[in-house]
Amino acid sequence: MFDPSVYSRRRNELVKNMSAGLILMPGNEDTPMNYLSNTYPFRQDSSFLYFFGPDRQGLTGIIDVDQNRHILLGDDDDLNDIIWMGSRTSIRSLGEKSGVNEIHSRSEIEKILKQAMGKGRKIHYLPPYRSEKVLRIEKWLETHHSRVVEQASPELIRNVVKLRSVKSPEEIAEIEQAVDIAYEMHTAAMKMAHPGIFEREISGHIEGISLSHGNPVPFPVILTTNGEILHNHYHGKELAKGKIMITDAGSETYMHYASDISRSVPVGGKFRPEQKDIYKIVLKTLQESVKSIKPGIPYRDIHLQAATVIANGLKELGLMKGDIDQAVSEGAHALFFPHGLGHMIGLDAHDMEDLGENYVGYDDEIIRSDQFGLAFLRLGRRLHKNFALTVEPGIYFIPALIDKWNSENLFTNFINYNKVEMYRDFGGIRIEDDVIVTDGGCRVLGTPIPQTISEIEETMQAGKL
Ligand code: GLY
Ligand code: MN
Repeated sequence: MFDPSVYSRRRNELVKNMSAGLILMPGNEDTPMNYLSNTYPFRQDSSFLYFFGPDRQGLTGIIDVDQNRHILLGDDDDLNDIIWMGSRTSIRSLGEKSGVNEIHSRSEIEKILKQAMGKGRKIHYLPPYRSEKVLRIEKWLETHHSRVVEQASPELIRNVVKLRSVKSPEEIAEIEQAVDIAYEMHTAAMKMAHPGIFEREISGHIEGISLSHGNPVPFPVILTTNGEILHNHYHGKELAKGKIMITDAGSETYMHYASDISRSVPVGGKFRPEQKDIYKIVLKTLQESVKSIKPGIPYRDIHLQAATVIANGLKELGLMKGDIDQAVSEGAHALFFPHGLGHMIGLDAHDMEDLGENYVGYDDEIIRSDQFGLAFLRLGRRLHKNFALTVEPGIYFIPALIDKWNSENLFTNFINYNKVEMYRDFGGIRIEDDVIVTDGGCRVLGTPIPQTISEIEETMQAGKL
C-alpha cells in the first residue's frame, strides 16, 4: 500500500467535494469459479483500492461526509481462516495503513446505514458491476435489486472520476512499472512468433511473465493472427508464415496499476511489402497523435486527426479516394479503423469504466457521437495534465464489414472496394502505447518497446534458433 496519508488525502478531497450524506464503498468478495471454495483470483474493487487501499476480501469503507468520519469495517480471521489460509493482518492494522480514524466489525455496516437512513440522510454509492454486490446493497439499503444500479449516486461518480482521472507521481510510477513488465511480455512474444508455434504457447508464456511479477493480467491477453477480430481471445491457431500477429496485452503491478500495450509483428520475422505499407501508416498515426497530445485539447480531436492520417495513407495506397476531410467527417474511414484512439488507464485497463464510460470520457462540452466508429471512442473530452491514457490506432480488413458496406453501396465515393478485396485476408495492425499528459505535451511511459519495422525485425531475429 501507499503511505496512509495518501488514502486520507484522497478521502478528504472527496469529502470536500461532496454535498452531504454517507459514502458507502464496499470492497469485493471472492467469486466462485465452479464450486464455492474454488475461487477466481481475487481482485479488489479499484475505487476501494484508491480510497482505502487494502487488497483483501470482506472489507467495506464508509465515509460520513458531514462529520468527516472515515470508517473501515471488516472482521479479523477466525480459526478456520487461519487453518486454511494462514493468519493475515488484523483489521486494526489495516485501518492504520488506510489512515482511517475508526474501525468496526462487519455487523456494524447495517446499523450505521439504517441509522443514517432513519434520519433521512443520503447514502451515496458507486454502480456495482458484480451481482453479489448488488444483492448486498439491496439488503443494506432495503431496496430492490433491480433498482440498485440506477440508484447509484451521480454526484459520487462525478467526484470519484474527477479525482481518479488525475494521476499522482506515485501512480504514474506504478503505471510505468506496469509498462516495463509489458516490455518483457511483448519482446518475449516477438521472439516466439515463428511459424509452427501455437498462439496459446505465446499467450500463456507472456501471461506467466505478468503473474511472475505479482498479478494476473489486467484484461485477457489478445494474441492472434486474426487481428481483424478486435478483441480476439481465441488462442488456438498455429502461426503461419506471412501472417501478422497482434499482441494486445498489459500487466498489473503489485499495487494493481495496469498497462495496455499492442504490437503487430510478422510471423517469421520479416514484413512483406504490403504489410510494411499498412504498418507505416499506423505507426505514423501513433507518432503524430503522441506529438499532438497536450493539456486542453479534446481527445476527440486527436482521434479525428488520427482518422485523417489513416485515411490519407489509405488514399495513397488506392484503398480510399476523394476528399479525405469529408470522408472522415462522414465516418468512411471506420471501415478500416472502427474503434476509438484510446481510453484512460490506471487501476483499470479501461480506467473507471465501471462508473460509466460517458462520465469518464465525456462531459457537458464534448458529447459522445453516435456515428459508427467515433461512437466507440471511450475518451473524447479535453485532456488535463497527469491524465494517463492509451494511444492505439489500427487498420483492419474485416471481411464481414467490408461485405456489408459493399452490398449496401456505402461510401462508394470514398472507398475503392475493388482494391479493398485484394486485402481481404490481411488481418489487422494495431500499435498501442501508454502516455501521461505533461505540462506542454505528453510522455510515453516505460521502457520503449520495439516499434519501428527495423526494431521489430531485429528483435524477432534474436528469437530465431
Ligand atoms: N486492450 C484492449 C482494449 O483497450 O480494449
Ligand atoms: Mn487499449
